[in-house]
This record gives sequence, C-alpha cells and structure tokens, in this order.
Amino acid sequence: MEKKVILSGIQATGDLTLGNYIGALKNFVKMQDEYNCYYMIANLHALTVRRDPDELKNNTLKILASYIASGIDPDKSTIFLQSQVHEHAELGWVLDCYTYMGELSRMTQFKDKSAKHADNINAGLFTYPSLMAGDILLYQADLVPTGEDQKQHVELTRDLAERFNKLYGDTFKIPKPYIPKVGARIMGLQDPKSKMSKSSTIPNDTILLVDTPDEIMKKVKKAVTDSDGIVKYDEENKPGISNLMEIYGILTKKTMEEIEKEFEGEGYGTFKVAVANAIIKELEPFHKKYNELMANPQYLEEIYNKGAKKATEVARKTLKDVYDKIGIIS
Ligand code: TRP
Repeated sequence: MEKKVILSGIQATGDLTLGNYIGALKNFVKMQDEYNCYYMIANLHALTVRRDPDELKNNTLKILASYIASGIDPDKSTIFLQSQVHEHAELGWVLDCYTYMGELSRMTQFKDKSAKHADNINAGLFTYPSLMAGDILLYQADLVPTGEDQKQHVELTRDLAERFNKLYGDTFKIPKPYIPKVGARIMGLQDPKSKMSKSSTIPNDTILLVDTPDEIMKKVKKAVTDSDGIVKYDEENKPGISNLMEIYGILTKKTMEEIEKEFEGEGYGTFKVAVANAIIKELEPFHKKYNELMANPQYLEEIYNKGAKKATEVARKTLKDVYDKIGIIS
C-alpha cells in the first residue's frame, strides 16, 4: 500500500522556539517512517510582512538547519524551499481566482495580522491562505500537521479543493488538518495564557532553540508562577506552573501526577532548575548538529537543491493537470 502523504511548513521568520520544537519539529520527525513527508520552508509567505532581505535569507537557512538538527532525515523526507518550486506561486495564483473575498475576510489570522501591521495591509496578506492551499494541494496531501491557529486555513483548502473538483472533475485530494495533542499547548513563560510564539516581543517569554544553556536556565528561573509554592497541575489557576509541568512532562515522559509526587514538599526553585536542565539536555544534541550545519552552507545548499528537484516532480504533475483542465497552455 502507498504511504499517505503529509505536507507541512514553517514560515521563514524569526528564531524557532521550544514550542515549535515540541509542537511541530518533534512530530515531523515521528511521522517520517509512516508517511511520505514533504516539509517546506515557507519563504514566499514571509513576504507578507516587510523583511530585511539578508535576514530572510538567513532565516530560511536557519529553519532548514533546524529541520535537520531535530532529526528530519533528508533521505526519508523531502525538505524544500517554497521559492524553489515555482509551481507554488503558479497554483497560488490559480487558486486566488477560485477563492472568494468573503472567505478570505473571515480568516482570523488575516484579521489579527491586519491589526498588528495596520500600515501594511497588503494583498498578499489577504491571499496568504490561497498560496498555502496551493502548497498543500500540489502534493495531494492526506494530512497537514499544524497548530490550532492554522486549522482554518486547512479548512479553506478543503473547500477550494472540493470547489475545483466539482467544476473540473477529480483533481485534488481533500486534505485533513492534523493537530497533534502533545506539545500543542506550550505557552509563553511570561504570558502563560498565550501560546509560546516566535513573534512574541515580551522579554524572556520564549525559549529559543539557539539559546545557550545559561540563557535557558535564566529564562526558566524568571518564568511567571504563583504564590502557592506547590507544584500542582491546574491550568486555570496555575497557568505558569502547569505550563512548566507540561514541558517537563513531555521531555521526561512523566505524567502530571508523577511530577507532582517528584516535587512534593519542594519549592518552585528546585522545580525550575529541573525543568531548565531537562530542556538543556534535550537541546544539547540539537545545538551541536545545528551549529555544524550552519557552518556548512554548501551542504545546506545541496539539501535544498535536492529537495526542490524531488518536490518539483510531484508539483509539476498536479499543476499540469490543473492547467489542462482550465484551458491554460503550459
Ligand atoms: N501558514 C503556516 C504558518 O504560519 C506556514 C505554512 C505555509 C504552512 N504553507 C503551509 C503550514 C502549508 C502547513 C501547510 O504556520
């Protein structure tokens, strides 16, 4: 039986956080044997906000290095840059013409980002979801692992695929969003009511994958807690401690009850040091690999060129079928 297809991507912006690592990267790695995986770096999507060109280039490589350093194997999965597979931009345009203004206006990410970048509400920000639909549909993906915040975009992708199939006959596989339970809720260290985000501007709110052990220790020690002094899971009333417990539990494979027992009678200080050490230990091999990769841009180039070739073969077929069906000579 053919393996099911997975496609996912991360935008080429900012440094990845522990939240991305646990919620996205670790899950990507887990799925590589069971599925035929396409992992993309969404550098075209990054243009919807004004970027420094050198920084965008460097961020693209950083995400690529993070994919590999966290265990995505370029021989098993197809890792590629969105910009190198031209079919993305092309199918994105076609899908723009099959997406209604009303649908795009309802996207919560568009509303949030327009509020945040009120001086630059560009058309790309608006049609962002059609480009993303193209990313997914080009590979006939069955499943799209993403965070809760992207679910609406995957649902729109389904609607577009169904609309197109109805008009022109079977063309696209209808993809399903896949939101992993583990790690979906890693929250900010300073604002534990909001998801840990690489775009957070609050100091010490996020653990970055590139943070040194000292920085990790410092940030965890500064994490917001409460005045109870009891390590107990209570998301509603103790969001800070519960978040640290969640991180610790995932990294050490312990249940919340086991963690409560382990730190019974101990203060938050001891608990925080244990959490920080668990993070440091988890990221140590990542750091080593990441630094090696970033020091070897030639190897990274080889990987993305190889990935682009593999991805293009599949994407080209889908786009050809689409163009043939709608009367575009290609
Ligand atoms: N929009 C996604 C995000 O911000 C990134 C992305 C682009 C993506 N294309 C995709 C995710 C296709 C999944 C599938 O997180």
